[in-house]
Amino acid sequence: MKGVILAAGKGTRLFPVTYHIPKPLLPLANRLTLEYAFDRLREIEVRDICIVVGENEPQLRSALGDGARFGLSLSYVRQTHPQGLAHAVGFAREFVDDEPFVLYLGDAIYSKGFQDHARRFVESGCANLNLVQWVEDPRRYGVATLDGERIVKLVEKPKNPESNWAMAGLYFFGPQIWEVLPDLQPSARGEYEITDTIQLLIDRGHTVLAGIYDGVWYDSGTLDSFLEVSRFLINNGRIIDPTARVKAEIGDAVVIGAGATVECTRIEDSVILPGARVKIDGEIQHCLLGGTVFSEDPLKDAILYEG
Ligand code: G1P
Repeated sequence: MKGVILAAGKGTRLFPVTYHIPKPLLPLANRLTLEYAFDRLREIEVRDICIVVGENEPQLRSALGDGARFGLSLSYVRQTHPQGLAHAVGFAREFVDDEPFVLYLGDAIYSKGFQDHARRFVESGCANLNLVQWVEDPRRYGVATLDGERIVKLVEKPKNPESNWAMAGLYFFGPQIWEVLPDLQPSARGEYEITDTIQLLIDRGHTVLAGIYDGVWYDSGTLDSFLEVSRFLINNGRIIDPTARVKAEIGDAVVIGAGATVECTRIEDSVILPGARVKIDGEIQHCLLGGTVFSEDPLKDAILYEG
């Protein structure tokens, strides 16, 4: 099975940090965000991976190279303009050829692997299997209606969801996807949706299965979710790189990257990027900081990168 990782997004919700460092390369617990995807894919024996990139292509290529240092073979394909997840997948057509593949949304972090789901996908011979998870409020996700183990209906971000089964960002596909993709129409928000692609598979009589994911799943795209996943990965503790210089009381959930200098009264629930120079008269709380950040006031809930 091959792998496709979608990593073309601009990461707008983490501006201005993502002006300087593409979101897939942001360090989480001092590892690149994409390294967590690589771990999960390696576990299911997926080593031949295509990363769909955007304007971030040069940085991703230079940071990840051919993948050898991750025990993978990486190739890159450029999505010319952003038009939705299904549009992005289309760029991987040549790479995937007619093999089955797993589609991974680049900013997703999963606490445990999906070996059982991969096995079930292969053994069932179905056209598509998707991870789903029961969530309290599914309105910001693709929402699946299940009939036994099958998905019988999918709606992207419905106002009145039919169920609480959210699409959890991990999809296994057989070659049937290439038959339906050319017929896909843009959604109300003007995007080619992966959920609509799967609905087309259902409409044409293909077997689409749900795989219930019972681990913890995060997307790291906003300040809150970025810090939440960081907290989870460091178990509420702290990682201070030995080359960082810190003059501050250090509270819970703090990551300070290599070569950073940090001066403040107290820091808590924050990530300071490698090489940052941070000097704050007061506390730093719930922040993601990089570059040079000086302030005479305390910092709370801030994403800053002055460079
Ligand atoms: C995308 C998919 C959605 C899925 C979600 C998972 O939404 O379109 O169906 O539930 O990822 O994170 P996005 O977050 O890109 O709007």
